[in-house]
Amino acid sequence: MIITQAQLTNYRSYAACALAPCEGVNVLLGDNGQGKTNVLEALYLCCTGRSHRTRQDRELIRWGEDFASVKVESQRRDGSHQVEIILPALGRRKLKIAGQEASKSGELMGHVTGVLFSPEDLRTVKDGPAERRRFVDMALSQIRPAYYYALQRYARALKQRNEVLKAAAAQHALLNTLDSWDEQLAAAGAELMRHRREYIAKLSVQAGETHREISDGREQLEIRYAPSVTLGDDVQSNLDALFAARDNDLRRMTTSVGAHRDDVLLLIGGRDVRAYGSQGQQRTAALAMRLSELDVMRETMGEWPMLMLDDVMSELDPSRRRQLVSHLKGIQTFITCTDPDDLAGAEVGRAWRVSGGELTKA
Ligand SMILES: Nc1ncnc2c1ncn2[C@@H]1O[C@H](COP(=O)(O)OP(=O)(O)O)[C@@H](O)[C@H]1O
Ligand SMILES: [Mg+2]
Repeated sequence: MIITQAQLTNYRSYAACALAPCEGVNVLLGDNGQGKTNVLEALYLCCTGRSHRTRQDRELIRWGEDFASVKVESQRRDGSHQVEIILPALGRRKLKIAGQEASKSGELMGHVTGVLFSPEDLRTVKDGPAERRRFVDMALSQIRPAYYYALQRYARALKQRNEVLKAAAAQHALLNTLDSWDEQLAAAGAELMRHRREYIAKLSVQAGETHREISDGREQLEIRYAPSVTLGDDVQSNLDALFAARDNDLRRMTTSVGAHRDDVLLLIGGRDVRAYGSQGQQRTAALAMRLSELDVMRETMGEWPMLMLDDVMSELDPSRRRQLVSHLKGIQTFITCTDPDDLAGAEVGRAWRVSGGELTKA
């Protein structure tokens, strides 16, 4: 999949900006704070429906304007696609697919697909489970729309169940509704678990190989699914776990088990990288995870997603940088950097200079 056109309107620092990227390496060059990441963020928004920096649509709208929009055209093996996301300052966002208004947010998935590497990736390794769930959710939503819908159903049921848990102390009659929320949560949860287990198993195989290459065969990385429900991936196991936790959940007024508490373990030589890894090992693990995400997406979709490298070159030592550049063949790539020397010999197809919210061809 490649992006052939992108158009930003009132998006962050851009009043209007259009670019026609090449199918190889595209470079955005400029000083800090000039608007490089804003472009990648807009592209990522079209892949996942989310910014990687904020959950507030408001922040994406150029100051003083009453809407923002991003329109992207892509070329896939099955033909050309077009998505447009319109973010009004007031009211709900609008989504257009091939010019037609779409009613469900999940219709966005699969038209534009991409993997983003950013300096914050280290958080996937270092931070708590939420970051790793997000890593898995963002990839799976793009390659499996059913997963995205299951996530939505799960989030809704979870919110309702938690509201009941909070209100039940005062309104005992509400307890009768818990069974039905448990059922919905268990059904969506089981679906999430099955997809996660399959995806993480594939990821682990790829990441193991990639990591061996990057670490010159010295270390073995393993990515392991650590589900919150350990009885099994089926609906009944989820139901049983929710039921077993119910009294405790009522006391604590929150749901303590289920897919929203899943984790993904990263192990080097069997040890948790998060707790025991050196800074270098954590960086390498983060890089291996992203590269494997790329590989698994290709395997699943039958074509490469595009790749975005936000300021990552300068963060890597020369050998990891070379590893990364050697992976770029045949993949449409967007690289941001402040210094062209960071490109480490990558064959640049098109380049832009980014300054004060404007792009000019370099
Ligand atoms: N909603 C917004 N409206 C206008 N400008 C914005 C908005 N959000 C961020 N900016 C501007 O965008 C710039 C940051 O852009 P960014 O893409 O992160 O820069 P970089 O080139 O360092 O990646 C800052 O100058 C900031 O003031
Ligand atoms: Mg930036």
